Amino acid sequence: MLKLFVVFGSILACCYAAEPAIKPTKGEVWPKPQEQETSENYLVLQPHTFSFKGPADIGCPNFLNDAFTRYWTIIATLPSQQGQLSEVRGRPQKKFWEADDNFVGYLDSLKVELIGACASEAVRPDLGDDENYSLTISNEGSTLSASTIWGVLRGLETFSQLVYLEGESLVVNATIITDFPRFPHRGLLLDTSRHFQPVYIILQNLDAMAYNKFNVLHWHLVDDPSFPYVSRTYPELSEKGAYHPVSKVYEQSDVSKIIEYARVRGIRVIPEFNMPSHTESWGLSHPELLTACYFNDQPWHAMGPLDPTKNTTYTFLNNLLTEVVDVFPDSHIHIGGDDFSSYFCWKRNPDVKAFMSDNNISSYEQLANYFFQNVISLLDSLNSKYLVWEEVFLNGVTLPNNTTIHVRADGGFDTLAAVTKAGKFGVYSGCWYLDELSTGSDWQKFYECELLDFDGTDEHKKLVLGGAACMWGETVNEYSIMPRVWPRASAVAEKLWSAQDVNDSEAARPRLEEHGCRINRRGIASQPPNGPGVCL
Ligand SMILES: *[C@@H]1O[C@H](CO)[C@@H](O)[C@H](O)[C@H]1NC(C)=O
Ligand SMILES: *[C@@H]1O[C@H](CO)[C@@H](O)[C@H](O)[C@H]1NC(C)=O
Ligand SMILES: *[C@@H]1O[C@H](CO)[C@@H](O)[C@H](O)[C@H]1NC(C)=O
Ligand SMILES: *[C@@H]1O[C@H](CO)[C@@H](O)[C@H](O)[C@H]1NC(C)=O
Ligand SMILES: *[C@@H]1O[C@H](CO)[C@@H](O)[C@H](O)[C@H]1NC(C)=O
Repeated sequence: MLKLFVVFGSILACCYAAEPAIKPTKGEVWPKPQEQETSENYLVLQPHTFSFKGPADIGCPNFLNDAFTRYWTIIATLPSQQGQLSEVRGRPQKKFWEADDNFVGYLDSLKVELIGACASEAVRPDLGDDENYSLTISNEGSTLSASTIWGVLRGLETFSQLVYLEGESLVVNATIITDFPRFPHRGLLLDTSRHFQPVYIILQNLDAMAYNKFNVLHWHLVDDPSFPYVSRTYPELSEKGAYHPVSKVYEQSDVSKIIEYARVRGIRVIPEFNMPSHTESWGLSHPELLTACYFNDQPWHAMGPLDPTKNTTYTFLNNLLTEVVDVFPDSHIHIGGDDFSSYFCWKRNPDVKAFMSDNNISSYEQLANYFFQNVISLLDSLNSKYLVWEEVFLNGVTLPNNTTIHVRADGGFDTLAAVTKAGKFGVYSGCWYLDELSTGSDWQKFYECELLDFDGTDEHKKLVLGGAACMWGETVNEYSIMPRVWPRASAVAEKLWSAQDVNDSEAARPRLEEHGCRINRRGIASQPPNGPGVCL
């Protein structure tokens, strides 16, 4: 509390101590675990004696050892990142705990148990993986236990967050946690078409995603403004369609680096190739793919969405998607499908009209249906599952029940209700557009949005697989994206992981204050969440 005493016109700061507006918690976990008991008793962790004790003979020692190294480094460098160096330099610490009744012992190791075997070093995360874990920190032995390596990764993240600095020492309270995600699909959309984002920015975001238990990078890779993906089959797409053919592109080696970096953090990479709209950049090298727009029956300067009437469009898409499904090993791709429903250029193009009358297609909805049926059968033949934006569903395109509809419009609850009532899966982004900025750090509006607040039965609500925070790229480049996304996306992370009743943003504030500082220390340029403050 700031107290100023005005004495005879001079300001005397009597009882003033500089303090943050919101005092951060210590060793609280973000997103909040499903079940947690914490004691006042604590253990002291000395980095030079601490180690993870992995399971013997579980099939993927390298995968686990790399994760142990990442988390050991995060924990062990905590004192030095706080500017407190005696521990790292091996000088004796002040052992305040020796005279403290709550001190119950040293934490020399965390035993990691894997109940199921790990199939191989090359194992990939997929939709519906078991990410459950349980974690016990006690002076009688500390254990992290999970059925899968994905659960181990989530548990290691939690463990790293339980450890905090007291004075110059690392302490961790005696704790019992049983944890699991509320939803299987917890995504962040990054748009690399409107502004190119260098590979290092994507990797930083993957780190931050792991610190928030996100598990899907929805890579909105290409769009109208630019085509930065270097295709093996059609290299001219980026040669002509990228902002720069060499410096503003993702080479195949960049893409595999990103996918691998994500994989070992338990994050899936789902690329989006948005169609039929948002394809202007494709037309810079392949104008024949696009529908020519007409105005007053004359060809106009604009080119519309992909031309659904030409067989060559589908030949091209077949070649491109065959490559994409090979390059991106995830079970799903996102084929977009937003913003096509004005049918502006389709309506005005005489060849499209002729095709429709020749093929007994009497509405533009039917024409869109024809387009998507062709794309869907391509994907079925490639054995790839897919997500589409809500417009595809709302325009009455015939979709199999196991399609996932990505609901994005403001609010969007009516759409989510309709999608699940129709037996389709839903992924929700309606109130999680990170490009929508209000004043301050404005994360509460994301936090206070409950995705299951729509009219539907329990059966319908079960079809909601989760959601994604969307960082559309108009107003962010490599210099501004990190603080725009973080910690605002952390609010969404907690909605998607934690229990439904974890919904009080005032209660969340001190934990988010700590979490923001925590990811700052780990190198993420997260903006302050709660007004005046300081990370100590
Ligand atoms: C386009 O493909 C359809 C279906 O395979 C076929 O019936 C039609 O003749 C083809 N059109 C052209 C112009 O090749
Ligand atoms: C054209 O479509 C309409 C309804 O969409 C259908 O009733 C009609 O039989 C079709 N005609 C031909 C020649 O396929
Ligand atoms: C959807 O289900 C059908 C029939 O069960 C199956 O053939 C198809 O592969 C599935 N597609 C997806 C995208 O899961
Ligand atoms: C799709 O889901 C709806 C609603 O649950 C159901 O009525 C319909 O029979 C399902 N269709 C198929 C092909 O399973
Ligand atoms: C938060 O969750 C509680 C318990 O489920 C519920 O009663 C309350 O209405 C929720 N509050 C908001 C703002 O959603």
